[in-house]
Formats: sequence, C-alpha cells, structure tokens
Amino acid sequence: MLAILGAIETEVADNRRLLSDPVELRAGHLAVHRGRLHGVEVLLARCGVGKVNGAMATTALHSAGATSLLFTGVAGGVAPGQRVGDLVVATDLVQHDVDVTALGRPPGQLLGEPASWATDARMTARLATAAHARAAHDGRQVHQGRVASGDQFVASAPRAAAIHAGFGALCVEMEGAAVAQAATTLGMPFAVLRALSDTADHGAAQDFPAFLTGSARLMAEVVEHYLRADQSKIAL
Ligand code: ADE
Repeated sequence: MLAILGAIETEVADNRRLLSDPVELRAGHLAVHRGRLHGVEVLLARCGVGKVNGAMATTALHSAGATSLLFTGVAGGVAPGQRVGDLVVATDLVQHDVDVTALGRPPGQLLGEPASWATDARMTARLATAAHARAAHDGRQVHQGRVASGDQFVASAPRAAAIHAGFGALCVEMEGAAVAQAATTLGMPFAVLRALSDTADHGAAQDFPAFLTGSARLMAEVVEHYLRADQSKIAL
C-alpha cells in the first residue's frame, strides 16, 4: 500500500479532506489515516518538521503496512531561474547539514552511507509525468534533480547558492533525505515531490507562509494526477 507523507498540517490537509472511507489508526507514535484517495487505497500521515521526524514516520508507516512512500511538501528553491510555484521531482537526496569532513568524507556524507539516496525510478517517472500534466494547466516549470535536506530553514542567498554549488541541489527542505535514508534502509521504494514556497533567500521567511497554502493545493493536484494515471499498475 502507498503511504503519502507530509511534514506540516497544511501539506497533508487537502489529501486528507479528499479521503473516502477514512479510518484513523496509530502506527507507533504516528497518527495515520487510511482510506481511498482518487480510488486508490492509501495511508496518509503528517510527520512533523525535521529529519528525525521524517525518519521516524517512515519507519512507523513501514510497520503499518506501507510498501511504498510518496513524500509531498514545500521547499526553498536554490537553483538559478526558479520561481515560487515551480515543482521539483527528486531524483536523489542529500543531507546538506552533515559534516564528517574531519574523517575524510565529502560534505554531506555519513560514515557507512552513500553520498546520496536515489528515489525509485518507476515512481519518480510516474511522478514527473503527473507533475508535467498539472504544470501544463498554467505553464509553471517542473524541475527534476537533487534535493538537499537539513535541520535548517535556509533564508540567505549566499547559503542557498553554496548548497546549490556544493551539492548540485535544486531545492532545500527539512525531511526528504532522512525519509530517503530510512526508506532505503527498509527496502521501501519512495519518491519525493516538492513545490517551491520560496527561494531560500532573505525573503523566505515571508514567502514561506504566504505561498504555503497554494503550494500545498498544487501538490494535492499532482497527487491526483499520479493516482489516476494508471491505477492498475499502482502496485508500488
Ligand atoms: N521549506 C520551505 N522553504 C524552506 C527553506 N527555505 N529552507 C528549508 N526548508 C524549507
């Protein structure tokens, strides 16, 4: 069964409202809603902000019977030419706040872990198709590439530029790579969709709340395209 995870209430509310035959259950510490979304049986949950919350929720959802996971949320764009409202489909994720360089590891890489965690190729291809289908309605851009996560809200143009240059990342957020690490360890296929609520610069603290609701609605519409795409093949 597919689990759909978001960090904060606004990021999960639209999908939860659209859930038919909802049943509320607990998976360890996590409140989970199970039901049908656009005709597909799913688990929905809100993990809270940050890497530890993302990893814990991923583990709890796996224990509750999730066999694949789609993370949706907002992010700050760090690549040139991006605009608020653009969509980002992750191909792989890094933890930009990890620093084991004193032991000879490149920035972002933990001992015993890969330099980045790749998303599931099939889910990601389907997600990109869904994002382009939604973007076709109003001409917004869809970017596909690396997402950088850290326990930091980035609100500085030099820091955003450094994360883009150092990691080749398209956007910053606070959960995705931890979800990716946990899902990879558990052998659970996953994909990550982000909508840009800000561009991680001096305006980010104002832009983030201003564009959060619209970005969340946009992602719920991409999820609808994703789920309606070909329901006979949504085994993942
Ligand atoms: N989520 C949305 N905007 C963000 C930012 N600028 N930094 C980290 N996480 C974010």
